[in-house]
Amino acid sequence: MSATVEAARAILRDNDRGGYTVPTAGLYPYQWNWDAAFVAMGWITFDEPRAWREFERLLEGQWADGMVPHIIFHGPKSDYFPGPDVWKTRAPVPTSGISQPPVLATAVRHCWEAGRDGTLAEDRTAAIYPKILAWHRWWVEARDPERGGLLGCLHPWESGMDNSPAWDAAFARVAPTPATPIRRSDTGHVGADMRPSDDFYKRVIALIDLYASLQWEPRALWARTPFKVADLAINAILHRANRDLLALAERFGTAAEREEIASRLELTASAIDRLWSEAAGLYLPFDLIAKRPIEAPISAGFLPAWAGIADAARISTMAATLERWAKKVRYLVPSTSPEDPRFEPRRYWRGPVWCMMNMMIAEGFRAAGASDLAARIKSDTAALVSRAGFHEYFDPQTGVGLGGGHFSWTASVALSWPLLSAASGE
Ligand code: DGY
Repeated sequence: MSATVEAARAILRDNDRGGYTVPTAGLYPYQWNWDAAFVAMGWITFDEPRAWREFERLLEGQWADGMVPHIIFHGPKSDYFPGPDVWKTRAPVPTSGISQPPVLATAVRHCWEAGRDGTLAEDRTAAIYPKILAWHRWWVEARDPERGGLLGCLHPWESGMDNSPAWDAAFARVAPTPATPIRRSDTGHVGADMRPSDDFYKRVIALIDLYASLQWEPRALWARTPFKVADLAINAILHRANRDLLALAERFGTAAEREEIASRLELTASAIDRLWSEAAGLYLPFDLIAKRPIEAPISAGFLPAWAGIADAARISTMAATLERWAKKVRYLVPSTSPEDPRFEPRRYWRGPVWCMMNMMIAEGFRAAGASDLAARIKSDTAALVSRAGFHEYFDPQTGVGLGGGHFSWTASVALSWPLLSAASGE
C-alpha cells in the first residue's frame, strides 16, 4: 500500500465519530451532507460496511418532507457557529435548515457498483433508494415550485460555495443586521484571511433568522427570500445524480419512478443549457430575483460536463477557457477565474482549488473525450496533495495548503479517484 493511501485511510479513521466522519476536527465537528457522499466513496475502498454506515447516519437527519439537511448535528455540543440554537429547526435530530449539492445518489451508485459484498450493497441500496428519491422530489417541490427546470438556491451555504464572488451582488440584498449575535469560532481554528468576511457572516445569519421566523416552510422561504439564485453546483450535480438514480431505479424502482426521473432529466438538461455563456466560455449562474445571468466565471461553471450535458463544441470552448486560466495559475482548477478582479487565491471559495471539484470537473472532461485536460487536472490534484498534504483547499498560485488540515474529503478523493475513473465509463 502506498504512503498516500495509508495516510488517507488514517485521516478517515481519525475523523470517524461513530458511523459518521467529521470533515476535520475543530473547524467542522459534525456531519456535512456533500462531504458525507465523497467520504463514503473513500471508505468503500477499504471498509465497505463503514461506507454504508456513512449514508445511514446522514439519512438519520432527513426531514419528513424529504429534505436532507446540510449539517447533521449528531455529536456533542461544540463551539461551532451557527449551532442548532441558531437554526431552530425542530427536526427530531438537530440539523441545519437548508440542503447542499446532492452528490448522494452518485455516491450510492458508485458504492453499489464498487461493493465487493454483493448482499450488503444490494440490501443497503434497496433501503436507501426511496430516501434519495424523496430528497430529489423535495428539490423540485421546495426549490423549483414553478417547475421551470432550474432549482433556486436560497442560501450561499446551500450552494456549498459559501462566499463565492458569484453571490456578492445577490447577497447584497440581504441586510447585514441579524437578530442573532455573531459568535464566530471558525477564525479561532483557521486564519481569517482564508475564511469569509465578518460582513458575510452577518448576512448568512440574517438569512437564517428570517427563515427560522418562517419556520423553514419551503413555500414561505421561496416567497419571502431576498436571495434566490440558480447555481451550477446544485443544478448540474442534481442532474448527474438523477442519471445515477435512474440507473438505481432500473434495479430498485418502479416504471412510474423511472418515467418521473427521465422526464425531469429532459427538463433540467434544457434548463441548464440556457445558462451557457459563449462570451464567458462556460456556464454562468443566474439571479432568479434580478432575472439576469450572474457574470462570475467560477469553477462550478464547468460542472455541466460532469452532468453529461455539454456537447462537443461546449466542451472544447470550456477546455479553451480552462487552458487560459492555466496560464495565470500553477495548479488547476481555481474556484474563481484568475482573470477576474474578485479572484483571491487564499480566501475559501474566492480562488483556491478544491480537490473534489477537481475530481468532478476532470471526470466530466474525461468522459466527454477531453482526456489531456482531465489528466492535467488530475496530476495537479496529486501534486497539491503530495506537496502540501490533505488540506481543505489550496492556493492555485503557490500550492500552499489552506483551511482545515487532515481533511476527510481530500483524503477520500485520493482514495477513490482511481477507482472512480475505472468504473465510470458508461
Ligand atoms: C462553514 O461553517 O463555513 C460551512 O461551510 C457551512 O456549511
